Amino acid sequence: MPQNSHLRPRDISQSIQIRAEIPQDYSAVEHLTEQAFGHTAEAEIVRRVRKESALHPISLVAVRDQMIVGHVLFSKISLSQTQASDLLFGLGPVCVHPEHQRQGIASALIREGLAKCKSSRCLACFVLGSPAYYQRFGFQNAYQAGFWYNKDEDNPAFQVIFWGNAGLHLPPSEARYADVFYLAD
Ligand SMILES: CC(C)(COP(=O)(O)OP(=O)(O)OC[C@H]1O[C@@H](n2cnc3c(N)ncnc32)[C@H](O)[C@@H]1OP(=O)(O)O)[C@@H](O)C(=O)NCCC(=O)NCCS
Repeated sequence: MPQNSHLRPRDISQSIQIRAEIPQDYSAVEHLTEQAFGHTAEAEIVRRVRKESALHPISLVAVRDQMIVGHVLFSKISLSQTQASDLLFGLGPVCVHPEHQRQGIASALIREGLAKCKSSRCLACFVLGSPAYYQRFGFQNAYQAGFWYNKDEDNPAFQVIFWGNAGLHLPPSEARYADVFYLAD
């Protein structure tokens, strides 16, 4: 058991640092991603997104005792009915080392990433994941807001958070992650 495993989310800022990923982190992040997911597909997505600067990735790591224990990636997502994709992000993958989970590390990474999206004048961020988890960050059902993923109109896992009044102005659309998300096995 790690020494800090008892920490609850409100304590997390004292035990971890959240910062932007740098090239020296790449192999540790890929290893962590493979460990957390139990397979290589998401690590391959992370590798490919990094190479596509046009996706404007926001890639953050959580560091504890000089070890990378968490990672989150945000990258551009496109909507079928608008050209505004420079201003639209998709969240994921996100992962935390199995021995450091349930201490608020993913929450801290996600909150910091969303703050960076907002400050870069992003209009909206989408995610595919558990509503029970993502609603705590302000995500809402995307279909009820006019957006769907992969022709699946009724997928509660597909969620969105808006900034400003983007929710009122973006036209109903199908969303698509960057092509590199569909290449990993
Ligand atoms: C999902 C993951 C990133 C959460 O990391 P974490 O640092 O443990 O998350 P936090 O501590 O911020 O939040 C933990 C809370 O999320 C809940 N949670 C975690 N994964 C969840 C899931 N898939 N569905 C619903 N709730 C989930 C936990 O039950 C816990 O709830 P509680 O706070 O009410 O006890 C981590 O479990 C992980 O790396 N999993 C493997 C990779 C993965 O599935 N990533 C997500 C898809 S991209």
